Amino acid sequence: MGVKAEIGIDINFAADILRRGGLVAMPTETVYGLAANALNPRAVISIFEAKNRPAFDPLIVHIGDLEQVAEVASEYPVAAQKLTEQYWPGPLTIVLKKRDTIPDIVTSGLQTVGVRMPRHPLTLRLLRKIGFPVAAPSANPFGYVSPTTAEHVADQLGDRIEYILDGGPCDVGVESTIVSFAEEKPRILRAGGLIIEDIRNIVGDVDVVDGSDFMPSAPGMLSEHYKPTIPVYLGDIPAMAKTVPGDNHAALGFKSTYGLKGEVLSPEGDMHEAAKNLFAAIRRLDAGGYDAILAEKVPDEGLGKAINDRLTRASSPMP
Ligand code: TXA
Ligand code: MG
Repeated sequence: MGVKAEIGIDINFAADILRRGGLVAMPTETVYGLAANALNPRAVISIFEAKNRPAFDPLIVHIGDLEQVAEVASEYPVAAQKLTEQYWPGPLTIVLKKRDTIPDIVTSGLQTVGVRMPRHPLTLRLLRKIGFPVAAPSANPFGYVSPTTAEHVADQLGDRIEYILDGGPCDVGVESTIVSFAEEKPRILRAGGLIIEDIRNIVGDVDVVDGSDFMPSAPGMLSEHYKPTIPVYLGDIPAMAKTVPGDNHAALGFKSTYGLKGEVLSPEGDMHEAAKNLFAAIRRLDAGGYDAILAEKVPDEGLGKAINDRLTRASSPMP
């Protein structure tokens, strides 16, 4: 294409592009998504091309209406119904056995499909207007940090997509929690914007897959993910400031930068604020001319699990 994408709030324009198989970036409460008609394999292929995403990494299908679950999935277990009644629209993706209507390219050949109803009002209106499901990964080049503003999308993919629907900064700031209902017992495949305690309250006991050992069921959850162009080291920030080579480090701290230059996720230690700021802070540091980011984990509870997962995936082994 080579032309910069337009940015705006014209849902009708976005709908027309999607109907004819084009790409639109759309806001969600978690991160911006790069959307195409999920029922049109050619349109879906152009998502993989625009992102340089390997074809083995399946996409989440986004719907605007509960009735659409039956169009994409062959089974909708009661536990999944209860969970989605409570938390959709919201930062929750469920993995179900798929129907043949969903092209193999969407699911990377898996017999399951990830489904989610996002909470952003503009995008919900768009999805309800078009009536077909859209496949949408996060709107970043493969492996890089996810976008939480329209400008983030424009900076990196602006010349590869037709239109960016601008919904302002994302509320939640980390991707959806993925829960699989494709086997007997529900399994959490990715920590995200819906906390595990809220899921347990509805469906009871769930397995939680440790990020390091669930390659087979979620081939896209690679450890090399969310990486900025400069290295991120994870540990004790003041200690790392003494040992990491180089003299131009930036801190990425939870409540403080320990007197270094850098970014604070939440001065008051509020986990929602920290999640909301995470990716934008990493992007600013990446563009700030530093040689490395020294980051620390946040308390490993609630949304902190999703934040720590993203920080871990962004990080490199200590030099
Ligand atoms: O919050 C979100 O989930 C955002 C917004 C745009 O909705 N989307 C998002 O998509 O994070 P993406 O493609 O960046 O990450 C989706 C992950 C993939 O890495 C893939 O491993 C997993 O979801 N996934 C998709 N379909 C799956 C399936 N059938 N089984 C297991 N994992 C699946
Ligand atoms: Mg992603």
